[in-house]
Amino acid sequence: MSDPDAGPAGPRSGAADPQGTGPGPTGSGSAVPHGTGPNGTGPSRTGRPTAIRLNVNERVRQLDVDPRTSLLDALREHLRLSGTKKGCDHGQCGACTVLVNGRRVNSCLTLAVMHEDDDIVTIEGLGDPDHLHPLQRAFVENDAFQCGYCTPGQICSAVGMLAEVAAGWPSHATADVASPRIAPTDAEIRERMSGNICRCAAYPNIVAAIRDTARGGPA
Ligand code: FES
Ligand code: FES
Repeated sequence: MSDPDAGPAGPRSGAADPQGTGPGPTGSGSAVPHGTGPNGTGPSRTGRPTAIRLNVNERVRQLDVDPRTSLLDALREHLRLSGTKKGCDHGQCGACTVLVNGRRVNSCLTLAVMHEDDDIVTIEGLGDPDHLHPLQRAFVENDAFQCGYCTPGQICSAVGMLAEVAAGWPSHATADVASPRIAPTDAEIRERMSGNICRCAAYPNIVAAIRDTARGGPA
């Protein structure tokens, strides 16, 4: 990506790892468990289906999944919620971002079985065409997408990010980390959204949409 204005900035430096790719509870799902073979001598190639219950977009959903199923695949392939996108499937692009218990998470990096009874919100749960979430409206009004592939992840991430700002969580871009109030400056937005890649490089408009929403602007 080559947008010097608001580019994705490579590794998620500084911020409190809200995307869950580093150490910490939200990024701990990358270790895929393996069952043992019939003789207990090696990994099996299939997992025994496991019944799980997820609260997705305020609906209780029961499903049987291979325990190695990522939350992303459970949402897309089992629940047919295709708004959440698979970009890299490796925690590097942010396209799969959803909210789990109010925090943004890369759903490709965590296993569905780890989220029994968790509250999960996907882009479908934020709003619909007749009742857009303020961030959805701001993205439309600011022309903050081109192909739109990254957009559901961008919006879910922005929802989580603004909650982090409101809660006073500092980032690498925060000038005064002791201040209980953090201004949603462009630098803060760019830093905190650096885990969400946009291959169309709509970064300036994405920042504008989030800035408008944070400041109670046009959205
Ligand atoms: S698909 Fe999950 S981070 Fe890229
Ligand atoms: S709008 Fe195309 S990848 Fe972001």
